Amino acid sequence: MRPKPSAGFYDTLFQENRDQAWNDAPGKRVILSALPDFILDVGEGALDIGCGTGYFIHEAGRVLSPDGLRHGPLHGIDVSRSAIEKARARYSDIHFSVMDAHALGFRARSLGLIFSYGVLEHLSHPAEALAEIARVLRPGGRFFLLLPSLGAYRHDRLDEGWYTDLDPNGQPQWNLFRRTWEDMFEKSALRLYPSDWSRRHGALNPEVFFWGERRGGGGP
Ligand SMILES: C[S@@+](CC[C@H](N)C(=O)[O-])C[C@H]1O[C@@H](n2cnc3c(N)ncnc32)[C@H](O)[C@@H]1O
Repeated sequence: MRPKPSAGFYDTLFQENRDQAWNDAPGKRVILSALPDFILDVGEGALDIGCGTGYFIHEAGRVLSPDGLRHGPLHGIDVSRSAIEKARARYSDIHFSVMDAHALGFRARSLGLIFSYGVLEHLSHPAEALAEIARVLRPGGRFFLLLPSLGAYRHDRLDEGWYTDLDPNGQPQWNLFRRTWEDMFEKSALRLYPSDWSRRHGALNPEVFFWGERRGGGGP
């Protein structure tokens, strides 16, 4: 069975502000503290896929441009209409859209930076979403993704393969070894940086951070 996240579930969660606890996720601090170490050309924009109510892309914008002047457009997309309505009310300078991660409405090779935090493991077809990320990133464009991998968060399931489980909210999610996720990246045009790069930025579980770039650029 493939995970089929219910937009209704997320709509209710966002209406009840139950997402706010996610803002302080330690992995977000790891990514934000790492950003200044990368030479980033945002190109036609930076995008957060599954942005919820917009906290992370807003914080990323502050890191990218502490004086508020230099970065390109910031975008956030989410399948939940409630999340996007709240995000728009909170951050009027960011472009938010209701959109499915499997079909990104952005021009090919246009974006310089993509984030997605805790989203791909909930998608019915994560490899298709990775192909979309590769399509809309410009060559050399960077991605910073976080998704749980088996063995990093869980040690009780060691049979690798495509199977679903329930996350703490009762939503289905993929539980896969990092190696399995890496295979998906290798089949797309996305090149992963070594997982240990996230440890250098304070990550306790470096194997849940998937950072890298769209092939075709000049390398890091
Ligand atoms: C665990 S939440 C993480 C939210 C946010 N990234 C954060 O860290 O606070 C998962 C998010 O993925 C979104 N989502 C689920 N399926 C999606 C899809 N097919 N396309 C876009 N967003 C999706 C949900 O609405 C929800 O906002």
